[in-house]
Amino acid sequence: MTQFKDRVFSGMQPTHTLHLGNYLGAMVNWVRMQDTHDCIYCVVDLHAITMPQDPKALAANIREVAAAYIACGIDPARSILFNQSRVHEHAELAWVFNCVARMGWLNRMTQFKEKAGKDRENAAVGLFAYPTLMAADILLYKGTHVPVGEDQKQHLELTRDIAQKFNNDFAASIAEHGFGETFFPLPEPMIQGPATRVMSLRDGTKKMSKSDPSDYARINLTDDADAIAQKVRKAKTDPEPLPSEAAGLAGRPEADNLVGIYAALRDVPREAVLAEFGGANFSTFKSALVDVAVDRLAPITGEMRRLSADPGHIDAILAEGARKASEIAAGTMDAVRRIVGFGPR
Ligand code: TRP
Repeated sequence: MTQFKDRVFSGMQPTHTLHLGNYLGAMVNWVRMQDTHDCIYCVVDLHAITMPQDPKALAANIREVAAAYIACGIDPARSILFNQSRVHEHAELAWVFNCVARMGWLNRMTQFKEKAGKDRENAAVGLFAYPTLMAADILLYKGTHVPVGEDQKQHLELTRDIAQKFNNDFAASIAEHGFGETFFPLPEPMIQGPATRVMSLRDGTKKMSKSDPSDYARINLTDDADAIAQKVRKAKTDPEPLPSEAAGLAGRPEADNLVGIYAALRDVPREAVLAEFGGANFSTFKSALVDVAVDRLAPITGEMRRLSADPGHIDAILAEGARKASEIAAGTMDAVRRIVGFGPR
């Protein structure tokens, strides 16, 4: 699909403080992609309200997540950084997609089933339609590459199905209006690898998660050096010393996780970590891990604190991002209006 220019789009919900799993699993990758791609990063606040949110907390979280993006290295001068609700075309295109996507497609989404739980009758309609809004996010900018976690793969497949069905259903109109043969690209997921999958510090078989009831399960990007040290020292381990080769981590999920975190923070392969620490006990290794974690995270935490002290500055960055995003979004939506038959606005 050479007709489409490469463009990265991704987003995170402003429902919680970002943690080390978000950082190593997603952010680091997003930041790096700015060197090679045209990138758009979104704080998806419309998605956040598919579950109940306290309005004051939501407003604070939007700024906090935006601050985290910037502190981690998303550069608003190079990438477009904005919050979704400021660009009304997201909701508008999502409506069109609600009329393209089929009930059967959405009924298959496993994340809805998990999030709605047993009381499905009582779930928000928006929670069910969530994936069509996600498709609108990406396709509004004709995004071609979407870095996401494994759990979003199904939503990306649905996005492709929607793009394809729109292209097919409106093929004649697309051609008539001079948009060529296909209007939307079929975006590719860039699955953020298992190499950087960060697990809970309390249970190496579970993902590090915002919803874990124990704050000791995760390292938040807002944690100071003391909190990081405490959490690492309390992290679950096993009684054996560290192995000197990766094969020795099999069946030792907690050891595997801590070695993986250390490797990711230093940006070296785990083999190199094991070559250094093989035979060491966990108290030695944990001290080294605390040093590396604090080294890497302290500048981010500091920058987040600095940014958070000036909410007006963050709001200005988001407003400028929304302005740039709107320029692209308005063009796409104007074309969609004509293609569907509404005529231009
Ligand atoms: N659904 C994604 C998640 O929960 C967030 C998201 C919304 C997103 N829109 C997106 C991710 C578009 C990538 C592209 O992780």
